[in-house]
Amino acid sequence: MDKSVIYATRELPGLVEWAKHNGQFQVEFNKEDRNLTYDELNEVAKASDALITVLSDNIDKSFLENNQHLQGISNYAVGFNNIDMDEAKRLGIPIGNTPDVLTEATAETALLLQLMMARKIKRAMSAVRDGNWTAWEPTVFNGYDLQESTVGIIGFGRIGQSFAQKMWQLYKCNIVIWPRESAKRAECNFPFRVVEKEEFFQLVDVVSMHCPKTPETENLINSEFIAKMKKPFFFINTARGDCHNENDLLLGLREEKVLGVGLDVTNPEPMSRKSPLLKEENCVVFPHIGSATKKTREQMTLMCLENILASLKRSPLPYSVYDPFKV
Ligand code: DGY
Repeated sequence: MDKSVIYATRELPGLVEWAKHNGQFQVEFNKEDRNLTYDELNEVAKASDALITVLSDNIDKSFLENNQHLQGISNYAVGFNNIDMDEAKRLGIPIGNTPDVLTEATAETALLLQLMMARKIKRAMSAVRDGNWTAWEPTVFNGYDLQESTVGIIGFGRIGQSFAQKMWQLYKCNIVIWPRESAKRAECNFPFRVVEKEEFFQLVDVVSMHCPKTPETENLINSEFIAKMKKPFFFINTARGDCHNENDLLLGLREEKVLGVGLDVTNPEPMSRKSPLLKEENCVVFPHIGSATKKTREQMTLMCLENILASLKRSPLPYSVYDPFKV
C-alpha cells in the first residue's frame, strides 16, 4: 500500500525526528529558507495527502477548490485567518490548529514589548552601542511606571487573559476589556471589568491586541481610534498586524498621543526595513516571535501531526477549527 504523504510548508522543529520513528508515512517538507510561492504551494499539495501550513501560506478558495483531494490541513499556529474556512467547510476538508500551547510564550512577548517601551530600552541600548553612554545620567533614560495603570485588552481569549493576569500580578493594573463578546467565556482569578467603548477610551493607558483578524478588528487601531483615546497610551500588538494602521501609529507617536508602539506582528508582514516606524525611539518591533520558544514550537509540530494523523484516519481531530468527523 502507498504511504500517505504529509507535507509541511516549512521545516518544523522535531519533524525529521518524528518522521524517523513513523516510517509508515512519507513526510516531506520545504527545505528552502523561504516561504513557498502560491504556485509552489499548489504543486506540492497536488502530490500530498495532507498539509501542515504556516500563517503566511494563502490557503484561499481557489487553492482549496484545486486541492479537494487533501484529507486534512493543520495550521502551525493558533490563528487561521490565512485559510478560507467557509470553503474548507463547503468541501469538507478538516482544518486543525495549535491552541493553548503558545499562550504563555505569546503573553510573555506582549509583556516584554511593554517593558521595553516603558523602560525606553531601545534608546538605552542604542546609546551603549553607538558610544553615546558617556556618564551615569540622572535625567536621561527615565521610563514610565506601570504600577496601577489601566490595561485595555482587545480580545480576551487565552492569550489576552494571560497577559492581563501578568500585568495584574506584577503591577496591580486595572484590567478593562472591550468589546464585551470576547469576555464571555473568561474564567479568571483576577479582577477585570468589561466596559463600553467610550469608557475604554477614557480610562486606558495600555492597549493590547489579542484578537483574531476579522472584518470588525481589521484596521481597528487607526487615526480615529487614536484621536478618541483620552490619555497618551502604549500600544502592543501580538495578534495580527492587519488590526492596526502603521502610518496612523507613526503619526500618533510623533504627536505624542501614543507613548510607545510594541509590535510582534506588522502590516504588511514582514515589515519593510525602510519603515519609518523603525527609526522611532519608542517603537519596538519583533519578527513575529510570539510562540518562538523551543518547547512551544516542538509541541506545535506534534499537535499538527496529531491532527493530520486523525484526519488521515477520518477520525475527530484533537485540535480542530473545522472537523467534519466530530460527532
Ligand atoms: C499564531 O499561532 O497564530 C501565531 O501568530 C504564530 O505562532
